Amino acid sequence: MKFQMHGRVLLLSLLLTSGAAFAADGAPKTAPATAPAPQAQRPGHAGIASANFLATNAGFEVLAKGGNAFDAAVAVASTLSVVEPESSGIGGGFMATLHIAKTGENVFIDARETAPMAVNPKDYLNPDGTPNRDAALKGPLSAGIPGEPAGLVLLAKKFGKLPLSVSLAPAIRTARDGFKPDPRLLHSIAEEQKNLERWPASVAKYLPGGKPPVAGEIWRDPDQARTWELIAQQGDAGFYRGETAQKLVDAVRAAGGNWTLEDLANYRAKERTPITIDYQGYKIVTAPPPSSGGVAIAEILNILRGYDLAKMDPAHRAHYIIEAMRRAFRDHNDYLGDPDFVKMPLDMLLSPYYADGLRQSILADQATPSSMLPHGPAHDPGMHTTHFSIIDKDGNMVGITSTVNYILGSTFVAKGTGVLLNDEMDDFALVPNKPNVYGLLGSKANAPVGGKRMLSSMSPSLVVGKDRSAVIGSPGGSTIITQVLEGILHFIDGQSAQQIVADKRFHHQFLPDEVFVEDGVFDAATSEQLRKMGYTLKPREPWGFMNVVTWDHRDNKLDAASDPRRPSGLGKVE
Ligand code: GLY
Repeated sequence: MKFQMHGRVLLLSLLLTSGAAFAADGAPKTAPATAPAPQAQRPGHAGIASANFLATNAGFEVLAKGGNAFDAAVAVASTLSVVEPESSGIGGGFMATLHIAKTGENVFIDARETAPMAVNPKDYLNPDGTPNRDAALKGPLSAGIPGEPAGLVLLAKKFGKLPLSVSLAPAIRTARDGFKPDPRLLHSIAEEQKNLERWPASVAKYLPGGKPPVAGEIWRDPDQARTWELIAQQGDAGFYRGETAQKLVDAVRAAGGNWTLEDLANYRAKERTPITIDYQGYKIVTAPPPSSGGVAIAEILNILRGYDLAKMDPAHRAHYIIEAMRRAFRDHNDYLGDPDFVKMPLDMLLSPYYADGLRQSILADQATPSSMLPHGPAHDPGMHTTHFSIIDKDGNMVGITSTVNYILGSTFVAKGTGVLLNDEMDDFALVPNKPNVYGLLGSKANAPVGGKRMLSSMSPSLVVGKDRSAVIGSPGGSTIITQVLEGILHFIDGQSAQQIVADKRFHHQFLPDEVFVEDGVFDAATSEQLRKMGYTLKPREPWGFMNVVTWDHRDNKLDAASDPRRPSGLGKVE
């Protein structure tokens, strides 16, 4: 469909076709669409929220050079690769949800890693058949073929306005001239020191002189600067062919991995159609498979549309949200994988009728034990993965969630490239029905196959309304899905960007059958009511690193906010 209308007008017409369904007593009913107020067409200024102030500033630097939100996203992502390598980077992958103001189109970019063609599931098993967690999480066997460089090249060339030499310049400069690592990076390096010590190029990069870098000292990464420079000059070929590809393959194979030059040459970032769902007069635009996030968020919202959450006491509100989370994560485990490899019942999972059926199974005052729903264990919401949100002066919006998977990925650096490899292979169901590092289970749909993308929880999402819109996302493994869901609900409740990122969180993922609770999310009376309903509340350290930009169309005000749980982030409007 080619749109001739201006994006805002188109947006309003789309919104007019949707009707949210609510009823105070829980019975679904359709609310009439209301006539929209006249809208301004562009904010006239920009907002960026990311996990590191150097990355946020890199985005503004590129906007000042005439770039749009997508050029800024290239600058933010590549700078995060340098200054926040514990979370994402050049050796990892990302997922992006874009709104293009000029056409009104929403686009999804899948720059997720792929399994190398020679993947062998037996490599992830110990001799006694138990999962080999080290092979899944450390060293070259744990790494998928990176998607980040190809994804950023696609983003710049198809959606940006500037050449890569401009949008990658801040990252190249920061890597070459150096920067002062923030406490979180210093802590991550110290935590992973034993693993980093296993590979000489990792020691050379992260443990100069055999020790973690010291606070306040300038830290440089000339190899990574050179690799970004090759990408700036040659596009994809700067990473996936030639000198860099050869160095990557040589390093991986010398350390026991199985990548080939063909694996790299065959990698493609893909454009996919995002999942969109109407909820309470807002259009939610979110991540399709190979992310499980959008399907789960849509399924949860479809269940919740049958309840009037605003009229409920806090315990019942939490109860219905937890039960919807439980059911969506059950389906996540059973059905989802790479759409290019598996047939998934998406029509069913996204259908309001399916949600109606699931809603019927929820009791008014009682938790449903997960064992009663026709499937394991520990979970760490962690410090890995990163998300940033951007809205530019023209109303382009982009949310990118990017990852090397666990803290500092595989901890393996390929000699001479500055590329820290991801450990994304653990996101496959390497051993069916055995939990990965996030406690997530998986079925055959997410089994490792050469060229296949591993399932992700990354859920960069846009919430587009008549009066207000937002870009929302967060890191946090399986908790990404529930954080984004809670962020969407809070935004729709009218909260500001600052409130949304600061809100206390809860999380349920079917198994373990426990509600993870951040201190202060429920008061004592609500906690007691939930326990009486049958919930096990499990206190957890604060999780997530949400970065949100909101846009109020009525006065064209932008707000950008970074999660107060981590001081290195910066949300800024200029
Ligand atoms: N590696 C975490 C995710 O993609 O969900």
